[in-house]
Amino acid sequence: MIKINNLHKFYGNGESRTEVLKGVSLNIKDGDFVVILGASGSGKSTFLNVISGLEPADAGTVCYDDKNICEMNDTEMTLFRKDTIGYVFQQYFLLPNLNVDKNVKMGADLTKNTNYRSLIEAVGLADKKKKYPHELSGGEQQRVSIARALAKQPKVLFLDEPTGALDEATGRMVLDLICKLQKELGFTMVMVTHNQNIARMANTVISMNSGRIVEEYTNSSPQSAYEIAW
Ligand SMILES: Nc1ncnc2c1ncn2[C@@H]1O[C@H](COP(=O)(O)OP(=O)(O)O)[C@@H](O)[C@H]1O
Ligand SMILES: [Mg+2]
Repeated sequence: MIKINNLHKFYGNGESRTEVLKGVSLNIKDGDFVVILGASGSGKSTFLNVISGLEPADAGTVCYDDKNICEMNDTEMTLFRKDTIGYVFQQYFLLPNLNVDKNVKMGADLTKNTNYRSLIEAVGLADKKKKYPHELSGGEQQRVSIARALAKQPKVLFLDEPTGALDEATGRMVLDLICKLQKELGFTMVMVTHNQNIARMANTVISMNSGRIVEEYTNSSPQSAYEIAW
């Protein structure tokens, strides 16, 4: 369980100081699939970055089971992130001078996972193991970044607009793949998107507006990536 209580986050100083998270609270159950919706600038990425320990909070608590990550020092935080968190970004962030196998191995090496090649197969890139990122399509690059994130066997996978740079067909394929992997491996998943249709795939849906959660509901029967509108 991730318990987020009364999170506040500010950017800037003096006159330009703005409050980007205005007291956000949320509980995320183990194995849940949470989708976070909201207009551009509503604080979705900031929220994801703070609850995953990428950025510090200015006030509030984020507890993974009983561990409050807001109280961790740098060493504890590095270890926590290594053992617990996977992250997928809209822009993939693959290392351009490493091939597919080496990019995924980088994630695997963090937790000494020697079985990472099965993930390259699971994302359908077994025949492209030796290709470099520039030789791949956007959808293929995103599949590499998903395999890399999962190669360290995270307990929680955070995804920030993972289909934002993909066309509809590729986006559906990537979402379908992510959901299948989640069912198989059982990790918790928190995904930011501004595509409202994707919310139908989630168990729990959160809407943010101007640094606050303004709506939270659960779906009794989530749909697949091929059932939703786009
Ligand atoms: N590093 C930063 N420094 C200053 N302002 C920032 C920074 N990151 C985000 N912001 C501001 O915080 C607000 C929320 O940003 P963000 O969390 O990226 O929103 P979203 O992901 O919903 O589009 C925006 O007004 C943005 O300009
Ligand atoms: Mg964002």
